Amino acid sequence: MTKGVDEVRAEIPFLQTGIIYLDSAATTPTPRPVIDAMLEYFHEFSANVGRGLHCATKMATEAFEATREKIAKIIHAKPKEIAYTKNTTEAINIIAQGLKWRKNDKIITTILEHHSNLLPWQRLKQKGIELEVIKPLTKECLIDPATVEATIDAKTRLIAIHHVSNAVGSIQPVEEIGKIARDNGIIFLIDAAQSVGHMPVDVRKLKCDFLAAPGHKGLLGPQGTGFLYAREDRWNELEPLLVGGGIVKDVDILHHELVDPPQLFDAGTPNIPGIIGLGRACEYVAEIGIERIAKRERMLTRRILKILDIENVEVYGPRHVNRRGGVISFNVKGLNPHDVASMLDELKRIAVRSGHHCAQPTMRYLGVQGTVRASVHYFNTEDEVDKFVTTIEQIAGEFG
Ligand SMILES: Cc1ncc(COP(=O)(O)O)c(C=O)c1O
Repeated sequence: MTKGVDEVRAEIPFLQTGIIYLDSAATTPTPRPVIDAMLEYFHEFSANVGRGLHCATKMATEAFEATREKIAKIIHAKPKEIAYTKNTTEAINIIAQGLKWRKNDKIITTILEHHSNLLPWQRLKQKGIELEVIKPLTKECLIDPATVEATIDAKTRLIAIHHVSNAVGSIQPVEEIGKIARDNGIIFLIDAAQSVGHMPVDVRKLKCDFLAAPGHKGLLGPQGTGFLYAREDRWNELEPLLVGGGIVKDVDILHHELVDPPQLFDAGTPNIPGIIGLGRACEYVAEIGIERIAKRERMLTRRILKILDIENVEVYGPRHVNRRGGVISFNVKGLNPHDVASMLDELKRIAVRSGHHCAQPTMRYLGVQGTVRASVHYFNTEDEVDKFVTTIEQIAGEFG
C-alpha cells in the first residue's frame, strides 16, 4: 500500500499548525514515523556506536549502520558506497579537501551553483587549482552539455554541477554531462540537494563518481543529516575531513592505521539519532514512491506556474514544467522579494523563501538582487498552491 497525500499530511505534526509550507527547498518538516524512530533510540538504546559490547551499543550500531542500505536503495548504489555527513555542504567539502590535487588541475562548475558547490572549489585556488565557471546559453538557466564539452581540456580533473537548481528550479542534463565526463576520464560530482527524494536518482545511469545530498530536504529526514555517495573504486582517492576516535584499526604514539571507507568518514561520535531517523525517512519516502512524488510535484508546479500569467510577475528558469523541479522563483515588479514573502506570511500563513538563496552569482546573472521562491513536496495540496497563486495575484494587483 502506498501512502496517499492525506495520510502523509496527517503524519507530519508541523503541518497541523495550519502553515502552508512552500519552503521545502530549504528544509522539510519531519513525519511522525521518522520522529518515532529517533525517539525509540533515545528511549530504548541511547548508546554510542561501534564502541562497546553491551546490548544498547549493539542495537544503536545496527540501526545506525542499517541507514547506509536504506539510502543506497534510493539512489541505486551499494551500502558501502554511502558515507554519512551532516549536510550536503559537508559532503562537497569532503571531496574538495579530500582529493589529492595536482597543481594546475582544473575544475569546471557553473554560475548556477549553490554557494556550497562553489566556495569549496574557490578555496582550492590556494593550492594552484584553476576554476572555470560556465554559464547557461539562455536565462532559462539550463546548462548545455556542449558548453561543458567545449570547456574540457587536458588539465580538467573534475566537473561539479547541481542536478536541480535551488535558485530557479532548472533540471540540468546531468546524464549527458556524466557521459561526457566518463568518456574524458574526468571525475564527476553531482550536487543532488534538490533532487534526491523528489525524483528518481540513479547513480549508475548518471555516471557520477560522487553525489552529495541532504537527508533533511527531499528525503524528509531530520536536520543535521546528509550523505556522500562515492563509486566504490573512488573511495581510495579520498582523505577524510576529520581523523580521531572511532575510525582506527591501530594507533601508536606517532602513527595510526585507519578503518576503510565508508566508516572512515565517521570520526567522533556521529549524529546517531539523526542517521537512524534518516534511515526511517528513506523507507518512508519509498513507501510513498519516488515516481509518485515526482509526478505530484510536477502537477503542483504546473499549477503554481499560473503566476506566469499575472501582470507584473516575472518568473525565472525554464518555462516548461518537464525541465524544472518543484522550485519556482519569481519577482513582483516594483516590490522587494522580502516584502512579498512577508505579505504571504502575514496574509495567509504561506511560508516561502526570499533573497539570494545562497546563489548570489545566479542572481547577478539574472540581473536581480534576489527572488521570492516557492518550493513544493508531495505533502502540498492543490488548495494550498491555488491559494498561493491567488494571493500573489492580490499582491501584484494591489502593490505591484
Ligand atoms: C543545490 C543545493 N546545494 C547545496 C545546498 C546545501 O545543502 P545543505 O544545507 O544540506 O548543506 C543546498 C541547500 O539548499 C542546495 O539547494
